[in-house]
Amino acid sequence: MSAIPADIDLYAEIERLRKERKAVVLAHYYQEAEIQDLADYIGDSLQLAKAARDTDAEVIVFCGVHFMAETAKILNPSRKVVLPDMAAGCSLADSCPAPALAAWREANPDHLVVSYINCSAGVKAHSDIICTSSNAKRVIESLPPERPILFAPDRNLGAYLIRETGREMDLWQGTCIVHETFSERSLVELMAEYPDAKVIAHPECEPQVTRLAHHVGSTSSLLKYAAESEHQRFIVATEPGIIHQMERAAPDKEYIPLPGQDESCACNECPFMRLNTVEKLYLCLRDLKPEILMPETLRQAALKPLARMMDLG
Ligand code: 13P
Ligand code: SF4
Repeated sequence: MSAIPADIDLYAEIERLRKERKAVVLAHYYQEAEIQDLADYIGDSLQLAKAARDTDAEVIVFCGVHFMAETAKILNPSRKVVLPDMAAGCSLADSCPAPALAAWREANPDHLVVSYINCSAGVKAHSDIICTSSNAKRVIESLPPERPILFAPDRNLGAYLIRETGREMDLWQGTCIVHETFSERSLVELMAEYPDAKVIAHPECEPQVTRLAHHVGSTSSLLKYAAESEHQRFIVATEPGIIHQMERAAPDKEYIPLPGQDESCACNECPFMRLNTVEKLYLCLRDLKPEILMPETLRQAALKPLARMMDLG
């Protein structure tokens, strides 16, 4: 990666290159505010997957993490998909290697495998259907009631779904390193300090946290709830990058980020998401790399369970 000349206007160059490359910039809500402001489209995992599938841009610059960019490539293979930092992974995806999932499946041949979209293409390829946090309940409810279910890789989302749907599932024991840092104790303390605040939480949080929340949902659902609620104050139990859009949607309200257990660190920020920077976004548009590539057989195998999810609407 060559250095960025000191005399260039990064923002003007990004604009110029975006047009020249016929590129679309997609950003997840957990990206830093500057990247969100530069994006053509901001969304949760499902919204970004749909935007990637439907774009006619020649290049998709995916400002998110690897599994999201990989999903874009699976859904729209004729586009060049680039990710500003290839090291932008995800602890959930890392917790579940494809061969281990395949072995789990083989040991339970009568089970259906439902995988959260936060997983590799290899894991998707061994799954029957994919879900995101915004459609997970619908996905589970669409499955034949007599079939037992293996759910991977997020045990917290899985436990939340068991609670919500009443459907028993065997859970892979993966967690999100960001959402597991939220403790019941710090939440209870904040609730006592702000008794009028509504608690909004992502289902990747531990059950002790989601049980206390007034609303649990995907990033887009938390944003919608905060914007449309008549309440004025919210304790936000997810990555605080989302607060940028909350402040844009409803600037008069107050959003209190739930800190991680160690309040001296910024461990409620996703270290993977935050690897992307405006500088790396510029380099990515200029050099059209790092690029997401995968064998076509893997892509087709991963597409099947993704397409089943997309077909649910
Ligand atoms: P959403 O699909 O709700 O945006 O979640 C993605 C994610 O990685 C949350 O940690
Ligand atoms: Fe993965 Fe958690 Fe980061 Fe989301 S916040 S990308 S689940 S590590």
